[in-house]
Amino acid sequence: MRYYRHNFAFLKMPQEMNLNHKALIDLLQKAYSAEKAAAFAYQGHAGSVKDKTEKIAIKQIELDEWNHRKEVLEIMQKYNIPVSQYYEFRFYITGKIISCSCYIIGWFMPFFFAGRLESGNVCEYFRMMQYFHELGIIEHNQILYEMGIKEKEHEIYFLGKIKNKKMLPIFEKLFSWGSSKSFNDVDLDKKYPIESSALYCKKAVKVP
Ligand SMILES: [Fe+2]
Ligand SMILES: [Fe+2]
Repeated sequence: MRYYRHNFAFLKMPQEMNLNHKALIDLLQKAYSAEKAAAFAYQGHAGSVKDKTEKIAIKQIELDEWNHRKEVLEIMQKYNIPVSQYYEFRFYITGKIISCSCYIIGWFMPFFFAGRLESGNVCEYFRMMQYFHELGIIEHNQILYEMGIKEKEHEIYFLGKIKNKKMLPIFEKLFSWGSSKSFNDVDLDKKYPIESSALYCKKAVKVP
């Protein structure tokens, strides 16, 4: 009987690989920078509300966004995706403007627009999952699922704060988000399991 020495060099492929998916790369870069804008916005939001419980809740949401930014960066690093300086700049400005405006536009609007923004963010993570699946990559399912669901929790928190306010029906009509309109099809009471969660956001409305 003859024994052959096998060459296992192919098993030592480099850990990093590049993604051949333009839309996915762009979405990752955008999400990374937009998470910073969101975190900045919540700093202003938390600073501008007087209620202590609201302050604490919004502060926690800010921390969630910093955490998302870190998670997205880890995925980007795995595939050698650079941080977009353009998005970093654009979202830095956006975040700071929203942050300052929270002090001047009253109580209702920061809650409304935060909820509307979060509503759109939910699908970003499920769309990423779908793009990864197009490349046959399923290893990020768990983290993308958690981030998408977390954004949904944020949306529901903000909606809960304003759902009984008189202004909501008018804003809902004008900005297409509110008690009966959402930019995603996630229902926290009837969540899909992770394995089938790529089914979310297939025909969700695009945020204008
Ligand atoms: Fe986030
Ligand atoms: Fe969020």
